[in-house]
Order: sequence, then structure tokens, then C-alpha cells
Amino acid sequence: MADNAKLQVAGKDVEFPVRSGTIGPDVVDIRKLYAQTGAFTYDPGFTSTASCDSALTYIDGDEGVLLHRGYPIGQLAEESSFMEVAYLLLNGELPSGEELGNFTTTISRHTMLHEQLATFYRGFRRDAHPMAIMCGVVGALSAFYHDSTDITDPTQRTIASHRLIAKMPTIAAMAYKYSVGQPFQYPDNSLSYTGNFLKMTFGVPAEPYEVNPVVEKALDRIFILHADHEQNASTSTVRLAGSSGANPFACMAAGIACLWGPAHGGANEAALNMLREIGTPERIPEYIARAKNKDDPFRLMGFGHRVYKNYDPRATVMQKTVREVFESLGVNDPVFETALRLEELALSDDYFIEKKLFPNVDFYSGVILSAIGFPTTMFTALFALARTVGWVAQWNEMISDPEQKIGRPRQLYTGPAQRDYVPVGQR
Ligand code: CMC
Repeated sequence: MADNAKLQVAGKDVEFPVRSGTIGPDVVDIRKLYAQTGAFTYDPGFTSTASCDSALTYIDGDEGVLLHRGYPIGQLAEESSFMEVAYLLLNGELPSGEELGNFTTTISRHTMLHEQLATFYRGFRRDAHPMAIMCGVVGALSAFYHDSTDITDPTQRTIASHRLIAKMPTIAAMAYKYSVGQPFQYPDNSLSYTGNFLKMTFGVPAEPYEVNPVVEKALDRIFILHADHEQNASTSTVRLAGSSGANPFACMAAGIACLWGPAHGGANEAALNMLREIGTPERIPEYIARAKNKDDPFRLMGFGHRVYKNYDPRATVMQKTVREVFESLGVNDPVFETALRLEELALSDDYFIEKKLFPNVDFYSGVILSAIGFPTTMFTALFALARTVGWVAQWNEMISDPEQKIGRPRQLYTGPAQRDYVPVGQR
């Protein structure tokens, strides 16, 4: 146990316990700060604030390490499957063969959507962004699955978790089908989780659909790489929404809304759009100069990370996967060459070196997803599909935590002090 932290606030000396986790930085437990001193801490963006205890995911941003329940992301991405990682995140240990089989079967039994939900899609414009549809439809699940919204019942929580993980591919694939005017495809439970998603997305009733095993593996790996990332913005949103006792479907809809932003899940869409706009390696210096220019709001999308101040370990796997997919599909898209060259030039530039800006997971994921055939607007929907596992696991962890409280940050008020109302005619 580390020594207590000592602080002097408004002439008062106070001490706070310092807690140590298994690995990673200690935390100063300042829960009694306000009661003892009348002062709050101030930390916009939570750059120095731990909001909870969690045994799910560990990141060492300086070393470029990401562990799920202790297992390095590289090993999981290379050797396991998304279903295995989902089981691991939800249950704490890797499954035995039998446990994995049972879990996969359970998930596959929940892949269909209530038939009436299809009518929801028809209320959207055809050009609706898939994330707009995902927010709406996932939130609407609470109106269809009442029997799994009692968060005080652990069995209902488990069923809701399974439903969310199982139905997300169906919901995302239907959002895509709606945008291209093709009929919705029902799930095929003889396929893997990822193979089924590919079929629901790209299959049509007019002809048989063959799942390409290289594409299936690559997409499964992308799902693994996006499954969880500790207390990121969307996960914190899910936890905050859940802390009020909201049902899990509503909480996931909140997470999806947060993920949509270009600084978070929307970055893969933005990164590919940027690479296409750059077009050829010759134009890269122009964009690097823009990214460095303080007067230009432009940023290199897919670069930099709040936590990683080293190479994002997920980007390493992603870069390798691009090659495999391109070779298997015979794709010859100059966007990959542009991405590689941009990475090379940025990593040798003092601005990026000094600020420790490295490619993140989104730098290459868009390149792969585009080669597979997904339009850019679907990228964030795929991220949401995969991150649902993390959101659900973190939400469950929070609900089971006896110390859980409603999330309620404080503020530094900078508005007017109290003043008297003046009737409109006298203003
Ligand atoms: N291009 C150019 N400069 C950058 C970039 C970038 N992509 N990212 C950060 N910087 C600069 C920034 O201008 C600032 O400079 P200064 O100190 O001179 O003001 C410095 O680096 C620190 O940036 P920050 O915005 O304070 O850092 P942050 O930790 O708040 O932001 C970030 C992290 C991911 C929002 C940011 O790096 C960014 O906007 N990147 C592009 C968007 C992106 O790729 N997001 C995906 C994140 S990974 C997916 C996920 O986990 O959700």
C-alpha cells in the first residue's frame, strides 16, 4: 500500500488514501475531498481522473500495451475469435471448448430481430446515416424486449447482454440494406458470427452467398481489435447512462451516439476520406504541413490518441491485415500506398515525434473495410457492433459493483452571481 497523499487546500491539511491496482498508476482516492475541504477537483476531459474500478481492460499508453483480462491484444487478434474475446470480456476467463460452443450457440439463438422492428427502418430516409439508424433502433429494443430490462435481476441482465451482442450485426446489416434498397436478409445461424454478418450485409435472395474465409478472418480480427478499450468516451457514456438505472438498450443507444463523433468512432470514416482526398503520395507533404499549422484546424485523422503515446498495438495488427485482404481479393487500391507513405513521413517528422503522435487503430481499418466493400458510412456502425461487447461487459461490471453510484460530476461555475429578475418592460 502506498503512502497517503497529502494536500493543503484553503489552509487545511488533508490526507487521502492512495490505492494501487494490479498494474498501472496508483490512484489518489479523493472521494472525501469536498466533505473535508469544501473544494472540488477540476479535470475537464478526465485526463487525470479514474472514474471506476475495472478488471476488464488495461492500457499502458506509453508502452503501447493493451490487455483484455490480462491477455495481450496481439495474441487475441492472431489466435482467438471474436466470440472467444466476447466470452472472455463478459466472464473473466477464456472459455473451454465446450463453454465456447455453448456461448456461440446462445448468441446465435438471439440473432433475429422482432419482425415489427423492420417497420422502424422504413421510417428513415434512404440516405440516413447508419449510425442514426443504429441509435434509433438499438434504443427501440427496450420497447420490444421488456422481459430483459429489469437491471436488478442478474438473469435478465445476462439475457439483455446476449441479445445486444447477437442482434447488433442484424441491426447494422439491415441499416446497410436499407440504404442500398435491397431486401433485408435473415440471419443464417449455420455461419460464424462474422460470416453471418457478411452474408446479411452482402448476400441477396437471388443467389447463394459464399463467405470468403480471408475476409471473414480479417473482419473478425477487426471486431476483436475494437471490442473494448477501457474507459473511453462511449464506454464512459454507457456507464454514466447506466448509473441512473436506465435499461441496457437505452444505455447502448447512448454509447452509439457518443461513438459517432469524428474524434472517437467516426475517425475511421474520416481517415479514409482524408486518404482518398490526399490521393497520391506526392500530395502528402501538403497535408502534413496543414496538420502542423496552428491556424489550420485540420488534423491527420487516424493519428494521435488520448492514451497511446506510442504505436497503437491495434494499428500494428491492422496494417498486417490490410496486406492479407488486398492479396486475397486482388485489390490494387493506391490508398494503401498513400497510407504507408503518410505513416512513414509523419513518423519521421519532428512535430509528430515531439507530440508522440502515432497511427491509431482507425488509420488502417477504413482501408480494409473499404476493400471488403463497406461504404465509409458503415465504418462507425461496424465499430459500434464490435464495441457493444465492451459496453455490455463494462455495464455489467458497473451494475454488479456495490460501490456504484449515479455519475454526477461537479463544476467550476463561471456565470453571474445571484441577481434579481427585471420585468421585460423595464429592461
Ligand atoms: N494531427 C495533428 N496534430 C494533432 C493530432 C493529429 N491527428 N492529434 C493531436 N494533435 C496535436 C494537437 O494539435 C495538440 O497540439 P498542441 O499541444 O500544440 O496544442 C497535441 O497534438 C495534443 O492534442 P490533444 O487534442 O490535446 O490530444 P487529445 O489527447 O485530447 O486528443 C485525439 C486525442 C485522438 C482526439 C486527437 O489525437 C485527434 O483528434 N486525432 C485525430 C482523430 C482520431 O484519429 N481519433 C481516433 C482515436 S482512436 C479510436 C478510438 O479509440 O476511439
